Amino acid sequence: MNDEKFVEVKNLKKVYDNGHEAIKDVSFSVKKGDLVCLLGPSGCGKTTILNMLAGLLNPTSGDILFDGKSVVNVAPKDRQIGYVFQNYALYPHMTVLQNVMFPLTVGKQKMPKDEARKIAEKYMATTQITELADQKPGNLSGGQQQRVAIARALVQQPKILLMDEPLSNLDARLRLKIREEIRALVKSVGITTLFVTHDQEEALSIGDKIILFNNGVIQQDDLGQNFYLEPNNYFVANFVGNPVIDNFNVKVNGGKITGSDFEINVDDLDKDRFKRDLTDGEYVLSVRPENILPVEEDGAVSAKVDDVELIGRERILKFTHDGGQARSLVNLETPIKPGDNINLKMRLDRVFLFTKEGERVY
Ligand SMILES: Nc1ncnc2c1ncn2[C@@H]1O[C@H](COP(=O)(O)OP(=O)(O)O)[C@@H](O)[C@H]1O
Ligand SMILES: [Mg+2]
Repeated sequence: MNDEKFVEVKNLKKVYDNGHEAIKDVSFSVKKGDLVCLLGPSGCGKTTILNMLAGLLNPTSGDILFDGKSVVNVAPKDRQIGYVFQNYALYPHMTVLQNVMFPLTVGKQKMPKDEARKIAEKYMATTQITELADQKPGNLSGGQQQRVAIARALVQQPKILLMDEPLSNLDARLRLKIREEIRALVKSVGITTLFVTHDQEEALSIGDKIILFNNGVIQQDDLGQNFYLEPNNYFVANFVGNPVIDNFNVKVNGGKITGSDFEINVDDLDKDRFKRDLTDGEYVLSVRPENILPVEEDGAVSAKVDDVELIGRERILKFTHDGGQARSLVNLETPIKPGDNINLKMRLDRVFLFTKEGERVY
């Protein structure tokens, strides 16, 4: 029993036959009963990892352990995995009930029909599709097909549930509703779940923790809030956050950080937040839009507001700075309109400094 590392991936690599290195030395672990999100842009290797966990794809090197035991030589059907594919992969000629029962009626663990039916009905109730039992998948909405795919994955009572972008075919409002339901469902069943998504908000809202990938490499493996507050590098800072983070090119020289029209004393930064010594040179100073705010006084960043976008309770002020667009997130009542000239001040205890290579310095 190894509950802390119920799923453990060690130095996993995958080079496809065409020579493409999709996964480059990835290691992570998942606690028993946790719902972990694998997050990252399209092509970063999320599906490749799920397929290796499921045994549909052999790793080039590295190891995968379930509950402390290596499974790389274990056949997919013996790994006790439930897999919900991106396109659901339901059988169109079968009814919902037949689809959900199917895994119990084939293979070595094949059971009598009425027993299979009982188990299927239990999970159809859990996923709220009981009334759809006799329908064919073609007559169902995306959300309903989704539930059928989940029920079908759960009937075998797998130890681990893999879900590959299960909400990507649903419209926005339904996505919000179903992601809450999926979290509640997997928590009530108590199943260890790896949930793949490219949507940072989805990951932040349902993951016990998030593992963010880019180009087959883990960028950060952490609690959701830390992707905002303590991003490991420039990629993380820019991938997570809505509106996206503001980036300013700066030069550091003689204790001053100089941007295109602002200057900050290095002494005014919080000493404890330095990850390493700040040497003279070129950097990117990044600040989340909620931490660069309009102020009355001069001596801050001055800018002309190009556009004001309303997003619910808040407004995004957009302004051109350093040749690029930057944003300030203010509350709804702030009386600023397009064309206004404003002064902005950054919260220096919340800015980040990255090297040109994207490594975090502050
Ligand atoms: N069978 C394959 N042969 C060669 N390259 C592949 C194959 N499958 C996926 N890839 C490539 O591997 C990378 C990771 O793919 P994938 O795991 O599907 O990413 P994601 O699921 O994060 O979008 C991509 O660059 C993709 O083009
Ligand atoms: Mg994918």
